[in-house]
Amino acid sequence: MFTKKWAAATAAVVGALLLSSCGTSSSGGSGSTNGGASGGGAITLGFAQVGAESGWRTANTKSIQESAKTAGIDLKFSDAQQKQENQIKAIRSYIQQKVKVIAFSPVVESGWETVLKEAKTANIPVILTDRAIDSPDKTLYKSFLGSDFVKEGQKAGQWLTKEFASATGDVNIVELQGTTGSAPANDRKKGFGDVIAADPKFKVVASQTGDFTRAKGKEVMEAFLKSQSKIDVLYAHNDDMALGAIEAIEGAGKVPGKDIKIVSIDAVHDGMQALADGKINYIVECNPLLGPQLMDLVKKVAAGQEVPARIETEETEFDQAKAKTALPQRQY
Ligand code: AHR
Repeated sequence: MFTKKWAAATAAVVGALLLSSCGTSSSGGSGSTNGGASGGGAITLGFAQVGAESGWRTANTKSIQESAKTAGIDLKFSDAQQKQENQIKAIRSYIQQKVKVIAFSPVVESGWETVLKEAKTANIPVILTDRAIDSPDKTLYKSFLGSDFVKEGQKAGQWLTKEFASATGDVNIVELQGTTGSAPANDRKKGFGDVIAADPKFKVVASQTGDFTRAKGKEVMEAFLKSQSKIDVLYAHNDDMALGAIEAIEGAGKVPGKDIKIVSIDAVHDGMQALADGKINYIVECNPLLGPQLMDLVKKVAAGQEVPARIETEETEFDQAKAKTALPQRQY
C-alpha cells in the first residue's frame, strides 16, 4: 500500500518535471498564450519548436507566437533545444492535454511513427511545419507547410557554377552542414551536390555539421582552415554558420567574400548585412514567416476541412545589390 502510494506520487512528480523540461528556453520556453486551454472555446494548438539555434528560428518562433495571438488561437509552445526526445515529450504532453491540433517542426527526419500514431489514436490532427519527416505513412499528419530544401541547395549550386564558370583548375569547396539527420541538412546537401556534380572541377574537400549554430560554424571552419591547404568556397547550410565561419576566416588572416567565396541559405538580417558588406557573396532565401499560413491551416484542420498535403512557401535569392535594397525593409 505504502509502496503503491509512493510509486504514484513519484510518477506524478516525474511527469510534471518532464513536461516543464520540454520548454525551458531562451525563446520563451513552454507555456500557453491567449488565455489558456479553456479560454472561451478558442482552438488550442500545441506547437513543439526545434529550438533557438539560429536567427531564422527566432524569427519563425516570433511569427508563430504573434500569428496565434492575432488569430485568437490558444498556443501552447515548447522549445526542444534541438533534441528529438524533448519534442516527443512535448507532443505526448499535448496529447495528454487533449489539445485540438498539434504542429511541430521535426528536429530530424526519422523516428516519429510511434508518437504520431499516438496522436492519431487520440484523434488529434498533426501539421508539420518547416521540416518534413521521412515516414511512408502519410496518414500520420494532415499537411506539410514549409520550403523546398532540395531546391534551395540547387540554387546555391547554380550560383556557384555560374560564378566559377571560367575557372580552369579545381574549385575546392568546404561545406558546413546543418543538424545531422534533419531535412534541411539532407536536402540542401543533395540539391547542391546534384548541381555541382555536372562539372568535376567542383570538389567538396571537407564537409561537416555545424548544427545550424554560429558557434559551431566558427569552430568547424577553424578546423577546415587548419586541415585544408586551399579553400575557394564555403557552402553553409544557413547564415548563422556562415557568420561564425566569417569570424574564423578573418581570424586566420583571410578576407571572407574574396579569398574564400561564401554562399549560404536563409537571408536573415545579419546574413543580409554580411552580404551587403561583401563578406558573403550570395544567399538563397528560406522564409521563416510561417505563422499566418499555419494558423489558417490550424483553423481548417480543427474544423475538419480538407487541406493540401503540401504547401510550399515562396522564396527568392539575393546578391549584394539586392541585399542592399532589401535590408531596410527586412523584418528579421
Ligand atoms: O529548418 C530550417 C533551418 O533551420 C534554417 O535554415 C536554419 O537556420 C534553422 O536552424
